[in-house]
Amino acid sequence: MLTNHPPTVAESIAPPLPRTGPALLPVYATMPLRAASGHGSWLVDEAGHEWLDAYGGHAVAATGHCHPDVVKAIQDQAARLLFYSTAVPHPLREDLAELLVSLCPRPLDGVFFCNSGAEANENALGLARRVTGRTPVVSVAGGWHGRTVATLACTDGAGYEASARRAGMPLSTRVPFNDVAAILAAVDASVAAVLVEPVQGVAGARDCSPEFLAAARAACDRTGAVLIFDEIQCGAGRSGAFTAAESYGVIPDIITMAKGLASGLPIGAMVARPWLTDHLKLGDLGSTFGGGPVPCAAAIANLRVIQREHLAANATAIGAHLVRGARALGLRTIQGRGLLIGFGLERAAKEVQTALFSHRILTGTASDPSILRVMPPLNFSREEADLLLDGLRQVLA
Ligand SMILES: Cc1ncc(COP(=O)(O)O)c(C=O)c1O
Repeated sequence: MLTNHPPTVAESIAPPLPRTGPALLPVYATMPLRAASGHGSWLVDEAGHEWLDAYGGHAVAATGHCHPDVVKAIQDQAARLLFYSTAVPHPLREDLAELLVSLCPRPLDGVFFCNSGAEANENALGLARRVTGRTPVVSVAGGWHGRTVATLACTDGAGYEASARRAGMPLSTRVPFNDVAAILAAVDASVAAVLVEPVQGVAGARDCSPEFLAAARAACDRTGAVLIFDEIQCGAGRSGAFTAAESYGVIPDIITMAKGLASGLPIGAMVARPWLTDHLKLGDLGSTFGGGPVPCAAAIANLRVIQREHLAANATAIGAHLVRGARALGLRTIQGRGLLIGFGLERAAKEVQTALFSHRILTGTASDPSILRVMPPLNFSREEADLLLDGLRQVLA
């Protein structure tokens, strides 16, 4: 955009982004390939090369790229009705809500659909504040919850906190990771919610201890605060159970999910207990695109594949195989659950990630620079896991 006005305050403080031509803002660090297509655990670049995808597009490709059932569901629904808002009921929205509730632990039984992980967390925090009439939130060091104002205020990192502060949002109180005494002390009767990822994704697949999550539950029970599990990254089977909550045996008041729900179409969900949802009146929550028929069709097909092909169990089995293989390579620090795994390295994970690119293998890094994060499709095969291990072996040699 060309302007001839004098610079605004913001323009005179911040140097402009380097625009080298394309209109797309260069705000993302990108991997060294241009995507053309994908199938299963493989991404195909514009030159036709196949890349083993142990990154899953930020852990989204739960049933892999372009699972035929998911593609067909999208095609069929798109041809029938592309979209209508929640002003008109649609059976797929209701069916998906029923399916999600059947897969989540009791007594979570009410679903609100939106479009992203941050939006699901934003709604969860909003609901907790509305019902409790309180504002403060307790979060956990290393937690990553999104880029909306309320979620930035709970996300660990100076830049995120600064953005929340600039918007006037009070920051959450952050307790050290897995510190039982700290969480028990931080949650008092002024606290609206405790927001925690049972397995922290961006921090490097750090899994909370069962004692820590049980303490969070006890603290919320004692004070009336709302326990929110952010399962945006670790949910929908990735942790080895449909919800990480279930695998820990700790049932929160709200679970939020997004990434793996539809294996690629944007959808977020907040699933809550009745003591929270019973308060809701018409118009209290809303989203134009939330629960649109095409993402709902994709999510139903995707969740049925996860169920039918026992992909949560596969995540456990292949995850264990990867952990054994990584130990055999001499890696000592290995964390995570199921197919959300962090490999602790003795050199910068970024270097190892870059070296793996030359083997056409995609992996992720983490906010901890020593952790290489892998979150492949839940139907990653043993052979694909061995290819990843072999790539790691060559790069670490
Ligand atoms: C645990 C967790 N919560 C929330 C989010 C935000 O999700 P979205 O990018 O869909 O808004 C992410 C995204 O990486 C995440 O990993």
